[in-house]
Amino acid sequence: MASCPASLPRLAPPSAHPQSHGPSRRRLPLRARLAAGLAAMLLAGPAAAAPDPALLGDRQAFIADLLGQMTLDEKIGQLRLISIGPDMSRERIANEIAAGRIGGTFNSVVPADNRAMQNAAVQRSRLKIPIFFAYDVVHGHRTIFPIGPGQASSWNMQAIERGARVAAIEASADSLDMTFAPMVDIARDPRWGRTSEGFGEDPYLVSRIARAMVRGYQGDATSRRDSIMASVKHFALYGAVEGGRDYNVVDMSPMRMYQDYLPPYRAAIDAGAGGVMVALNSINGVPASADTWLLQDLLRRDWRFGGVAVSDHGAIKELIRHGVARDDREAAKLAIRAGVEMSMADELYLNELPGLVKSGEVPIADIDRAVRNILGAKYDMGLFHDPYLRIGRAADDPPDLYAESRLHRADARALARESLVLLENRNRTLPLRKNAILALVGPLADSPVDIMGSWSAAGRGTNPVTLRQGMEAAMRGQGRLLYARGANVTDDPALVEYLNQLNWDTKEIVQDPRPPAEMIAEAVAAARRADVVVAAVGESRGMSHESSSRTTLDIPASQRALLAALKATGKPLVLVLMNGRPLDLREASATADALLETWFSGTEGGNAIADVLFGDYNPSGKLPISFPRSIGQIPTYYNHPRVGRPFTEGKPGNYTSQYFEEKTGPLYPFGYGLSYTSFSLGDLALSSPVMARGGRIGARITVKNTGDRAGATVVQLYVRDESASVVRAVKELKNFQKISLEPGEERIVHFDIVEDDLKFFNARLEHVAEPGAFEVQIGLNSQDVERARFELH
Ligand code: BGC
Repeated sequence: MASCPASLPRLAPPSAHPQSHGPSRRRLPLRARLAAGLAAMLLAGPAAAAPDPALLGDRQAFIADLLGQMTLDEKIGQLRLISIGPDMSRERIANEIAAGRIGGTFNSVVPADNRAMQNAAVQRSRLKIPIFFAYDVVHGHRTIFPIGPGQASSWNMQAIERGARVAAIEASADSLDMTFAPMVDIARDPRWGRTSEGFGEDPYLVSRIARAMVRGYQGDATSRRDSIMASVKHFALYGAVEGGRDYNVVDMSPMRMYQDYLPPYRAAIDAGAGGVMVALNSINGVPASADTWLLQDLLRRDWRFGGVAVSDHGAIKELIRHGVARDDREAAKLAIRAGVEMSMADELYLNELPGLVKSGEVPIADIDRAVRNILGAKYDMGLFHDPYLRIGRAADDPPDLYAESRLHRADARALARESLVLLENRNRTLPLRKNAILALVGPLADSPVDIMGSWSAAGRGTNPVTLRQGMEAAMRGQGRLLYARGANVTDDPALVEYLNQLNWDTKEIVQDPRPPAEMIAEAVAAARRADVVVAAVGESRGMSHESSSRTTLDIPASQRALLAALKATGKPLVLVLMNGRPLDLREASATADALLETWFSGTEGGNAIADVLFGDYNPSGKLPISFPRSIGQIPTYYNHPRVGRPFTEGKPGNYTSQYFEEKTGPLYPFGYGLSYTSFSLGDLALSSPVMARGGRIGARITVKNTGDRAGATVVQLYVRDESASVVRAVKELKNFQKISLEPGEERIVHFDIVEDDLKFFNARLEHVAEPGAFEVQIGLNSQDVERARFELH
């Protein structure tokens, strides 16, 4: 195993230990566990000090008592969050923990390993303060759910919450206490590789998902054995890095910040997220990790966040490279003073804070505040009551950490089916007949690693059902599936090398060594023998990842050549897209008869896609992010501010806001997605033309399934503020309902609009609703809408 350079992100876990710890293990009753935990804490014999069990019932008193017993070094030790990897031996880690020099770890997902570390904390350290175990459980843990944009495409909050709940159940059974998720950075520039981690471009939708994810991870309480603490990230505005280039600067007006980018973090915090991860980027000239306004005025004072703020990987040291700190000492001082409480994967706090406190440059109050919040998080995670709450007893460790029985495939398949977005379906090419002869081609058709997507936590390449497997299973005993790879994801050796560096323990890209022409010829031969061709194309998962910003949104050339050859056969062509960001699909859309956006759909992806291809599930996904026509159009987000010279469809002319050599507007708009059935909307009616202050208005619309199959769709409510004291967005999503209708069935859908829905941040950053006219728009995507107006008095 090569060692991972500190700055490189990880796609997969470092650990591949055979030990296991299953969700089904027997649990001791709470009281017995409590006693066992405290007994373990006291096991080290004559303890000079320890958490006082008598105070356990009173969080504040307990923490104050413990804090009062801590030396400065022990306090500073709590601020250190280390990555478990090849850099430090297990023995050294245990000794550091025993010396009280580590507060928590991440990247270790094996209960036996974490048990040994916890033993060092509660048996060998002076104060016996438990450590916590964290991990990037972003879209599933052992069972991998669709990546963020896929989950968001479902618009199904219950299913998303269930996904996070399952992730918590699996992660806690692997002894984890905390996740660095949800990632709720608004992404409006698909060049940014981390678009694949978030939930799209819209503040309202992402905020709803942020709440659902926090509820799912944390369950009823973070102290539950099967809950993990959520740490919302990346605070703040990481998705707005200039040009979509990762780690780049963010420069943004306060109004836009408050109106569009901050709400999802706020929603996660209001839902009770126990942690916040501070972003790597600077904001208007100040790196987030040194931003007192961000971390104290906004987060603590205005939002009343009482949890723990952790740095991102190595971020405190990076203050030197940002050019705001001369050296380690100044970097540590800036970060702790600003409110970064745990330093992830660097030793700046450990080395510099003792001197800074002694010299008076950092008040002890800053250290105490940070320690109080870290101990508070540990208290809330239930670790003082039972340091082994999620680790369990060695005797209960199941023999196989990777056992199939530990997975939650049904939940993953249910969410994955809903995450697929049908973009085109000409001549009713889809659904396919199972008794047909089908050719399945493309580098992503049978790639289990790619279908998991980036940040696939403890998911293993042996678990996913690939598209090939899913289609074979669906067609068994009926038609025939001819498979040919057809192309590599890319033939560019430099790109392959880069992508293979992203991960330190698996080879991401395995190239087929045959010449491209030979692979294409094989695929074309299969296509000629088939009734319909299905091509799985797009990006490898590493192409949509941290540090994978792109200058184009193209499907790579090797795959485009394959598609051109397939098209030339004249056979109906279905494209199954796998990608982590919107791509430029102009060519693909013109080439293909049907286009299905599947993102990276996770462990059950192949089955879910087959469900849709064969019509066992009628697609209902809607895009959570606009798909531009070309990279030059970026940004294309639907809710952009109004301008003085808007382009008006059907009224061509110059001196309007447009790119003159291309059609205006996205190729596929926000909220868009087709179905195998069709829906119609009746007239939109409002309960009154006037809303009084503090009042509400009802909006109602009839939705009818006008096709011949049952299907689900998302009814979307937008509001446009006709005039205000500042420039407002052309429209903003304010609510939605996902409904299912039988063929011919119609339903009246009701929405309530309240004054809060009309509020925005004015030039003084006051959250206000101003009197005047508003237009309500209801549609099945953001563009084709029914309209009605009312006045706020
Ligand atoms: C990423 C974070 C992640 C952390 C720990 C960083 O590189 O930016 O999102 O939580 O690593 O793995």
